[in-house]
Amino acid sequence: MSSLTNKNVLLGVTGGIAAYKSAELIRRLSELGADVRVVMTRAAQEFITPLTMQALSGNPVHTDLLDVAAEAAMGHIQLARWADIIIIAPCTADFIAKLATGEGSDLLSTVCLAAKSDLAIAPAMNQAMWGHQATQANLAQLIDRGVKVWGPASGEQACGDVGLGRMLEPSEIASCAEACFDSGVLAGKKVVLTAGPTREAIDPVRYISNHSSGKMGYALARAAAEAGAQTILISGPTNLPPPADVEFIAVESAEQMNAAVMARIENAQVFIGAAAVADYRPVQCAAAKLKKTASETMSIELTKNPDIIAGVAETNQVACVIGFAAETDNLLEYARAKRVNKKLDMVIANDVSQPGIGFNSDNNNVTVIDANGETEIAGLSKYQLAKQLIQLIAQKI
Ligand code: PMT
Repeated sequence: MSSLTNKNVLLGVTGGIAAYKSAELIRRLSELGADVRVVMTRAAQEFITPLTMQALSGNPVHTDLLDVAAEAAMGHIQLARWADIIIIAPCTADFIAKLATGEGSDLLSTVCLAAKSDLAIAPAMNQAMWGHQATQANLAQLIDRGVKVWGPASGEQACGDVGLGRMLEPSEIASCAEACFDSGVLAGKKVVLTAGPTREAIDPVRYISNHSSGKMGYALARAAAEAGAQTILISGPTNLPPPADVEFIAVESAEQMNAAVMARIENAQVFIGAAAVADYRPVQCAAAKLKKTASETMSIELTKNPDIIAGVAETNQVACVIGFAAETDNLLEYARAKRVNKKLDMVIANDVSQPGIGFNSDNNNVTVIDANGETEIAGLSKYQLAKQLIQLIAQKI
């Protein structure tokens, strides 16, 4: 049985070309057992008729804030109270701005202001509008307030542009909605994760490391624990507090991380390698601090570290082994090769050359690569991304 069975879903439709996909979304949500009511903005009605939405949802469609008859039947406050979740799909740049400023100028924005339920938006707009600072600032505000942002996807747009801004497919939006009501999708499962950087000692005061903050791995650990999993987080040095309900093991080097993972991987169903593990370490760690010499150059001989995730995959005992690929160039090509070479079930490709995502940022854009294909997930905080990834992983196992 779907977690959407008997849930009241209020679908808000705003004025974008993707509004035609909302009709399909009603079908998907209804098939999953949801009772769907539709609120349309004036602009939405230019793209698709209320009659279509009414026929598909089996409920009257709501369009006007100041309609005496409608308010008597089910006004904006009742609609807000009725909804277990509000999904706005498509959600235009204009409506995102309205939500950010708290405007209550039409029925849908008023319902959103009055509602206590979860609010999710599936943005759809031209790629330049999506990338505009104003849109991104408005989105950041919404994310801060706990609004769920599903998508957008990347691809060819109705206007001929190519880029981020396509609304997610109705089936993807329906899966995200299901996930909102899933409690404990990983209940009874054991998840082991690595996070943060490793430090490879050169001498007692110096080391080789990288820019990983641990934010992505910690967000995944939090999301896994919230999904009911027995969660073990093995982390290199970071400034983050361990998430609640997580067994936390602090390590420094790749060898220590490897030992900690191998000691705890038994009976795990999921392993997630979010750590940025140093591929090499100095052959020797000097016993005392190295001194400057007369020479203008200095070499440090390096030797390979164990490949932790490949070792986990080789055990063939973990149902789902998920790696990250942090790349500065040829992202997808390298990520695809890592999935194959390390025998991973899924790789999350992370472009660490871009400002504002990847290392040490609060947000991330990734491409999820598995045997079924590739999906881009962008414009989310690391925690929201982690929640979506945990849902995908739960489906896999
Ligand atoms: O920590 P943040 O600041 O939040 O940044 C997040 C992140 C960019 C660190 C993270 O999202 C990420 O991409 N982590 C993987 C970084 C990395 O080391 O990628 P890689 O392409 O070098 O490694 C591929 C995979 O093999 C990774 O899952 C890695 O954990 C694993 N690996 C690599 C080397 C090694 N010796 N052992 C491993 O297990």
